[in-house]
Amino acid sequence: MYTDKILVIGANGQIGTALLPVLQNAFGINHVIGSDLFMPDSPCCFFEKLDATNAADLANICKKHNITQIYHLAAILSAKGEADPVWAWNLNMTTLLNVFEVARSFDLKKVFVPSSIAVFGGSAQKKHTPQHTYLDPTTVYGVSKVAAENWSVYYHKRYGIDIRSLRYPGVISYQSMPGGGTTDYAVDMFHKAITEENYICYLTQNTCLPMIYIDDALQATLNIMEAPSDKIKIRSSYNLSGLSFTPGELIKAINVHLPDFTCDFLPDFRQSIADSWPYSIDDSEARKDWGWKPVYDLEKMTTAMFSGLSSLLIDIK
Ligand code: NAD
Ligand code: SER
Repeated sequence: MYTDKILVIGANGQIGTALLPVLQNAFGINHVIGSDLFMPDSPCCFFEKLDATNAADLANICKKHNITQIYHLAAILSAKGEADPVWAWNLNMTTLLNVFEVARSFDLKKVFVPSSIAVFGGSAQKKHTPQHTYLDPTTVYGVSKVAAENWSVYYHKRYGIDIRSLRYPGVISYQSMPGGGTTDYAVDMFHKAITEENYICYLTQNTCLPMIYIDDALQATLNIMEAPSDKIKIRSSYNLSGLSFTPGELIKAINVHLPDFTCDFLPDFRQSIADSWPYSIDDSEARKDWGWKPVYDLEKMTTAMFSGLSSLLIDIK
């Protein structure tokens, strides 16, 4: 019988919205508690209102529900963070350290803390960026993720906490809108293709970035969290690869389904963030250590996005 109780922090976000039902299916509805700054309109499971910068509130929720695992998804992402770097740093680091401290005092079994391709900067090889390379991020978000990776290693070594992490590429999903990242354009483009026939893209046509379809991202998350502890050799964060594409390539894939869709390009400050990130990621360590293998290529992802969006959007053509 499954005995763990999982708390998901930041459960209303792009990844949390899709992760909650997957965890419920895998482990049972009574074993998953969502939490976020605001209650969702129609919670799909036990849900707590929580500001994870408040250590006492976090501890109370862990105590109340006998939490044994945390998936910590609350963060300020790359583009949004640049609007107020000190606020983004404080939120990302305070919530992280509150989670690690609660994991220490409640002797939690496992903690999941995502990292990002934003840890990479100008010094990293652009194609097939290796797992181990110099990390010189250009955004406050990337700086906070590098710090989080180092804190993960520290808490694991010093206190033995079983912290696991993935460097997610840009996540493509239909379940909710993304929350202020540089890779958000790809999700926006699908929505605009359905509702307006035209999209103004804030990155240039040839900007190639590493991306991942939500089902692959969630599968990787479950795989790493369910792997035996001795298989987790990297305690900072694993490189994770799904697929890589440019806005121009995504437009062509969308045009297969919606030939009238067009796109214009008006690059803004997010272009320089994208230019500092890899084109593609070498995730051979994840493949070797715990058997990672993505399923979705561009064509398959595009079909899945239209199918998912059509099940949600009434106004589809
Ligand atoms: P998101 O912005 O969509 O969601 C974050 C959620 O955290 C929001 O619902 C927000 O309300 C909540 N939140 C913010 N401050 C909070 C606080 N103080 N207490 C509690 N909740 C708070 O983010 P996401 O895309 O779901 O990302 C989840 C995690 O995955 C983040 O750590 C992010 O850095 C990482 N990640 C995401 C992507 C991506 O493409 N989505 C890529 C790489 C890494
Ligand atoms: N999708 C995220 C962003 O663009 C990458 O971590 O910020």
